[in-house]
Amino acid sequence: MYFIANWKMYGNIKSLNTLNKVIKFSKSKEIKKGRLIYCPPFTLIIPFFKKFQNCLIDIGGQNCHENDDYGPHTGFINSKMLKNSGANYVIIGHSENREKGETNKLINQKIKSAIRAKLKVILCIGETLEEKNKGKTKLILSKQIKLCLDKINKKATLFIAYEPVWSIGTGKIPKTKELENTIRFIKSKFKKKMPKILYGGSVNPKNIYNLKMIKDLDGFLIGGASQNSKNFIDIVKKTYN
Ligand code: 13P
Repeated sequence: MYFIANWKMYGNIKSLNTLNKVIKFSKSKEIKKGRLIYCPPFTLIIPFFKKFQNCLIDIGGQNCHENDDYGPHTGFINSKMLKNSGANYVIIGHSENREKGETNKLINQKIKSAIRAKLKVILCIGETLEEKNKGKTKLILSKQIKLCLDKINKKATLFIAYEPVWSIGTGKIPKTKELENTIRFIKSKFKKKMPKILYGGSVNPKNIYNLKMIKDLDGFLIGGASQNSKNFIDIVKKTYN
């Protein structure tokens, strides 16, 4: 199972000390088959990479520009720069960026660029509360999958993180049946190479007991709870116990 920490716009150089516990845990037998990946803000990618040099914890970015090459794009970094800093993964299409105008088409261009840079892509999809209440969840997810993955290299390693927007940072998670049904629906959209499927949205050491029972999940994309090493470790431990 994959446990991907999305630190969003949190963390500073002092946060490095908090990683010692996780590094120790990653070398212990307790980690079982858990794979840990940290996606810190851009400023911390290189320090995290250095910190994780002697363990198996991997690194990802939280977004990238759609252009492969260097260019006059103030405030942005591209997939090649992420790869060059030590990242092997990148989160693309997070709802917090979609809210700010990131379209499925732009996300598609970013994914293609990330694949060319040999990054593993974690594509976020999910419906808003309004869309859910109107019964549009499947329609929205289908559209996001179709447009974001249009003409991408079929051999690329892909993760789909289902993150219902209404669940992010709210403490609310979907009902078991509902979530299983949605995961099954997402999987039905892939005929050839099946992506790894993650769930994200308010995952914490308490609700992990329910979430780990969900069929066909390959892991979790964890926001708030991942910034506290104890909570992050607890989530992994409880998934296997
Ligand atoms: P929370 O775990 O804080 O709800 O955030 C989820 C998320 O957005 C991960 O990408």
